[in-house]
Amino acid sequence: MEVERVQAIASLSLTTDTIPAEFIRPEKEQPAITTFRGPVPEIPTIDLSDPDQENLVRSIANASKEWGIFQVVNHGVPTDVITKLQAVGKEFFELPPEEKEVYAKIPGSQSIEGYGTQLQKDIDGKKPWVDHLFHKIWPPSTINYRFWPKNPPSYRDANEVYAKYIREVADKLFTSLSLGLGVEGHALKEGAGGEDIVYMLKINYYPPCPRPDLALGVVAHTDFSALTILVPNEVPGLQVLKDDHWIDAPYIPNAMIVHIGDQIEILSNGIYRSVLHRSTVDKGKARMSWPVFLEPPGEFVVGPLPQLVNEEDPPKYKAKKFKDYAYCKLNKLPQ
Ligand code: OGA
Ligand code: NI
Repeated sequence: MEVERVQAIASLSLTTDTIPAEFIRPEKEQPAITTFRGPVPEIPTIDLSDPDQENLVRSIANASKEWGIFQVVNHGVPTDVITKLQAVGKEFFELPPEEKEVYAKIPGSQSIEGYGTQLQKDIDGKKPWVDHLFHKIWPPSTINYRFWPKNPPSYRDANEVYAKYIREVADKLFTSLSLGLGVEGHALKEGAGGEDIVYMLKINYYPPCPRPDLALGVVAHTDFSALTILVPNEVPGLQVLKDDHWIDAPYIPNAMIVHIGDQIEILSNGIYRSVLHRSTVDKGKARMSWPVFLEPPGEFVVGPLPQLVNEEDPPKYKAKKFKDYAYCKLNKLPQ
């Protein structure tokens, strides 16, 4: 069966002021109604090059406890590396449909890798206004180049270079997050799979939408990764739920957005919180984002770090294989 891409629907909607009913969210989700417009506290921005290690650890730990999300600047990934990653991803999404379909997800496959569009509707029978491409970028033994676009030709190089830099950012974050819990610097990375942690890149492509007041890109969720490190394009759209209000994440040039995912919440026994977030879409411009999900290998068991659990602080989460966690989450089953 031919899958209908949101990009194709969007190009048909260009000259109209309407969108198909299946994209119109119920009122309790519509961005025009639910976005908080009052004065809001700002999502923390953290300078990763801060030479004061204690200060850095404290800021990262506080942001992860209170927000579960923060932006990082001076993260060590050169601007031109990010610009190239964005340019090749954009070029891919601007290819004619038949060229993108070569990379389509394989129907019936267990893997999420490939070019795709969410097929099943949400509980409300609604669809998100977004297409995506998923593929792994690290470790090398897990990469399936079948899902890496061959066009533009520099796609592979741009993604390999990015993978090299993003691992350094990840290591730095894992270390600070561990020290912020009062455990050894390597504890969280080890607890999430160590050198076997899988780096899954997703490119979100949110086409221009005639009714951004009614539609949503990705709907409210927490990431089931350990950490997510996201690069956006210049079109804002990420929102996070803070104190029961949906607030906008400002676009900060050259910053990367870090989400605490469910696995870090579990490892920290609830001290760090995975953040509920969603994305809105834009009337005139395509929004794009490049999250990298840092995931434990499927067979790897994740549970609260033993150092954080005692009689006063019993484990708040079950230890389970990551693949079982992911299965329950995707199928909306209790953990
Ligand atoms: C996601 C996500 C947000 C964004 O893909 O999991 O939350 O800003 N994306 O695109
Ligand atoms: Ni997310």
